[in-house]
Amino acid sequence: MNIAVVGTGYVGLVAGACLAETGNHVTCVDIDQEKIDGLNRGEIPIYEPGLEPLVERNLEDGRLRFTTDATNALKGAEVVFIAVGTPPGEDGSADLQHVLSVARTIGRTMESETIVITKSTVPVGTAAKVRAAIEAETDIPVHVCSNPEFLKEGAAVDDFMKPDRVVLGVDSEYAGEVLTELYQPFVRTGASILLMDIASAEITKYAANAMLATRISFMNMIARLCEVTGADVDMVRRGVGSDGRIGPSFLFPGVGYGGSCFPKDVKALVRTQRELGVDASILEAVEALNDGQKHLILSWVTDRFGDDLSGMTFGVWGLAFKPNTDDMREAPSVVTIEGLLARGAAIVAHDPEAMEESRKHYLGDRIRYSESDYEVLRGADALVIHTEWLPYRRPDYNRMKSLLKNPVIFDGRNLYDPVRMARRGFEYHCVGRPSLPTTGS
Ligand SMILES: NC(=O)c1ccc[n+]([C@@H]2O[C@H](COP(=O)([O-])OP(=O)(O)OC[C@H]3O[C@@H](n4cnc5c(N)ncnc54)[C@H](O)[C@@H]3O)[C@@H](O)[C@H]2O)c1
Repeated sequence: MNIAVVGTGYVGLVAGACLAETGNHVTCVDIDQEKIDGLNRGEIPIYEPGLEPLVERNLEDGRLRFTTDATNALKGAEVVFIAVGTPPGEDGSADLQHVLSVARTIGRTMESETIVITKSTVPVGTAAKVRAAIEAETDIPVHVCSNPEFLKEGAAVDDFMKPDRVVLGVDSEYAGEVLTELYQPFVRTGASILLMDIASAEITKYAANAMLATRISFMNMIARLCEVTGADVDMVRRGVGSDGRIGPSFLFPGVGYGGSCFPKDVKALVRTQRELGVDASILEAVEALNDGQKHLILSWVTDRFGDDLSGMTFGVWGLAFKPNTDDMREAPSVVTIEGLLARGAAIVAHDPEAMEESRKHYLGDRIRYSESDYEVLRGADALVIHTEWLPYRRPDYNRMKSLLKNPVIFDGRNLYDPVRMARRGFEYHCVGRPSLPTTGS
């Protein structure tokens, strides 16, 4: 099948490469010339495990192309995916300008009956706007469908190749048949293709992200209760998560959710609910709790060292909003580090993948970066942990202690056991578990 994917970010690039891998001819379009030039040289603009060989192989085999020329790419495409960004507008609603601009281009360009699919996360009712934008430009029949994407950054290729389910909101039997066939190679092991009406598909995406964000904020709320009662949130998490009705995923307390999806999707859903007169109080609470949670480490640090941190240096492990990605959009690390800098502290940070991203787009040269995770500890007054990258999970504690000026750790991801840390002589602050007096040296 000839496919065009418009928008070559996390979603468009992964979808394009995976669809090419199953034998389709895919043209990926983006307005970012630098990104497209790089991709044509085989350079992947994001860190995503498994993506590079997939892109390389399909480029070489001629099934995958990258271009900024939308007109050319859209001509002859039987199926067009819209996968451009939908960032939050000033009022929190999803900004649809990129989606609708692509829709107008499709309308001006298409030469025969085409299936257009919104893969970007868009509020309920958007497919109708996309259809109107296309039909304002052409009389050729168009099918507009919704196929929300559920991939997780850091496991995006795996998630696309082996989805839990594929949600297809379709406007006709024909579109349903074509898209079911397109997705068949990805569901051979039994995942379902869920055909539904378009509004339900659009809402499914927001409901899924809002549910996951709710679980995180819920557990962060329980962690606070544990803190004031001396309980251990990790025990509570296991006790709750082993209930088959609840399950263990997305119950880890921490420094709040970040990334390009949960914060903006919760905001946009709240906005849609308010507009439609539907009570949004659960999600308003989820959001407020998360905003507070992002300041948790800062409050630990100022409680411990006071508000004036001038002359102090903090080592930081982890900048990305979660492991296995270089994405720093809405990352809690930025909130902590900005707060520490504003109070006069100096920062030395390490992240296995996100340091370049931080330097280019977030913290610039206001902090120092180290290629070595242990070097950030040398002479630091404390270590702050934001991201649960694997190499941070079982470190050399003796080496850490010998490098740090004070053996103090503020761990926003509960990587270590508080009892053992006390025995090892660390002052160890973590989420929803008691801080214990050190017993070792
Ligand atoms: N990142 C995720 O984990 C994820 C998961 C599921 C769904 N989504 C949703 O998918 C959509 C895309 O997300 P993303 O993370 O891939 O975004 P992204 O910011 O990484 O990429 C978007 C791309 O679209 C391009 N673009 C913008 N306007 C364009 C236009 N008119 N023509 C061609 N290209 C254009 C941009 O240059 C950019 O490369 C969003 O709606 C997001 O909510 C994201």
